[in-house]
Amino acid sequence: MIKSNFKIFVNFKTYPQGRGMEAVRLARICQKLGEEKKMTIIPVVQAVDIYRVRKETEVSPWVQHIDWQESGQHTGWINLEAVVEAGAVGTLLNHSEHRIPPGKIRQILKRVAVVAVAGNRFARQEGRTFQVMVCCRTLGQLERLVKLKPDFLAYEPPELIGGTVSVSREKPRAVEKAVRICRRYDMPLIVGAGIHSGKDVLLAKKMGAMGVLVSSAVVLSEDPEEKIKEMLTLLHC
Ligand code: G3P
Repeated sequence: MIKSNFKIFVNFKTYPQGRGMEAVRLARICQKLGEEKKMTIIPVVQAVDIYRVRKETEVSPWVQHIDWQESGQHTGWINLEAVVEAGAVGTLLNHSEHRIPPGKIRQILKRVAVVAVAGNRFARQEGRTFQVMVCCRTLGQLERLVKLKPDFLAYEPPELIGGTVSVSREKPRAVEKAVRICRRYDMPLIVGAGIHSGKDVLLAKKMGAMGVLVSSAVVLSEDPEEKIKEMLTLLHC
């Protein structure tokens, strides 16, 4: 049973430590710790790893990106129906490492609303829907994109991504403002960039974030399991 609404998203990016069988290993760690701590810890994997992770673990993966192309005469795109069929239960959109225009975000959100649940046998079995987190680099972008009403908004200042100075420590005012913007629309805010310690996570929670989006601190760690545990310690769960 999940005790806390606070969520941890672990973005595997294209790190070698987070793809193929390594993706399975990391996803198992997310599953194990999620069960132990009664928290939602979501592996966010590359499209090519969704099926493998879904098949080899009990965890429900998210994908890092999808494109807007429908099923049919389109080549080389990440198709919503395909990732849903493979077992993904959510996606990031507009990550600062994969930006897309607002019109395309709108288009994808519309498609998700129509097709995602119907085609996802895993989602149907588990009574889950396919969720979308729209990532924002700035507060201005957040103010605009919150109106599209995705399931989550993420605030990640790009200059802090991959570093060891976290968004919660470096930009507390911006995080608080982002929380206020999201609350107006009843939208959960997730924060990310440079998060690497229990204190960073606790700070984000205290400021009103509903979760964190982490990557390098976990994926590149010599002991990802210990790293995630350390990040959760101060949450008292
Ligand atoms: O999507 C999460 C990410 O951009 C943050 O990366 O390495 O700063 O935790 P990192």
